[in-house]
Amino acid sequence: MRVAMMGSGGDAPGMNPAIKRFVEVAFEMGHEPYFIYDGLEGLIDGKISKAHYKDVAGIIHRGGAIIGSSRSKRWYEQRYRKEAYENLAKEGIEAILVMGGDGSFRAMDVFRKEYDVGFIGIPTTIDNDIYGTDLCLGVDTALNVIRDAVDKIRDTASTFARAFVIETMGRECGYLAAVSAITSGAEVCVIPEVDFDKALATKILRQEIAHGRRYIIAIVAEGTKRTQEIASWLEKDIGMETRVTVLGHIQRGGNPSVKDRLLGFGFAVEALEALARGEKGRVVVYKNGKFSTISLSEALKPYVIDEDILSMLHFLD
Ligand code: F6P
Repeated sequence: MRVAMMGSGGDAPGMNPAIKRFVEVAFEMGHEPYFIYDGLEGLIDGKISKAHYKDVAGIIHRGGAIIGSSRSKRWYEQRYRKEAYENLAKEGIEAILVMGGDGSFRAMDVFRKEYDVGFIGIPTTIDNDIYGTDLCLGVDTALNVIRDAVDKIRDTASTFARAFVIETMGRECGYLAAVSAITSGAEVCVIPEVDFDKALATKILRQEIAHGRRYIIAIVAEGTKRTQEIASWLEKDIGMETRVTVLGHIQRGGNPSVKDRLLGFGFAVEALEALARGEKGRVVVYKNGKFSTISLSEALKPYVIDEDILSMLHFLD
């Protein structure tokens, strides 16, 4: 079978290990592996070529994706999806493995309902906002980038007796902020999923400062859009000189962690095995340490952060 792999939407560390394993295992299974370059935009423009072992040599440690990625507005016009299908048909490609987030899976849902293309999704986003999987590809590396940044910021916070507001990515999902706050011992965590009790936090922080607290680390998820408000509150109501650090795209970059390399391998292998079992329109998930697939419609259900993580946030109150 001719099977292609592509990235779609925001890149995440671990895509290159997944790409490498895809090529190796596809050959082992007797398939002909292909790459679609530059995501949905590239699919529309016919940027498709055969994959070779040499393409994936020396990429295991690299962040980003050697095959590129994109967000595509053209995809929402039927005439471009038709072009995309014709490009696949011309190459004889029967199935595509898409590394992406929920936006990419929605895009594929429209496509597979129009054309007979086998689709298997690999949840790839640092936001960790895909239903049914404990982890998406890239999350572990992003968490470690944030941990490293917070550790460094703490050096200045503690030396200068300052408050720092650190904004994490994640769109509407507070997973990155919540896990980072717990594992970095932040005093404040503001995420979209939980009401932040400012009055209670004011009382506690003032008491702690009276008992000698010298600095404050506050982690705020971008989805709350409250970064500046929290900074003004710390400065004016809590009375501590405050600085803001927006971590931005550094969270999406860097060498994939060991966990993300292993996840990349596992997601790619399970995707190929799912195709071999005759599955179509499925998404690979990693649940309780095992890989399996769920239907695309299930994967598109709204994501909810694990209760255990939310309950650990209470010690920050
Ligand atoms: O979905 C991944 C993500 O990094 C989000 O956390 C962030 O809000 C968004 O992508 C940024 O998108 P862009 O790279 O297009 O600015």
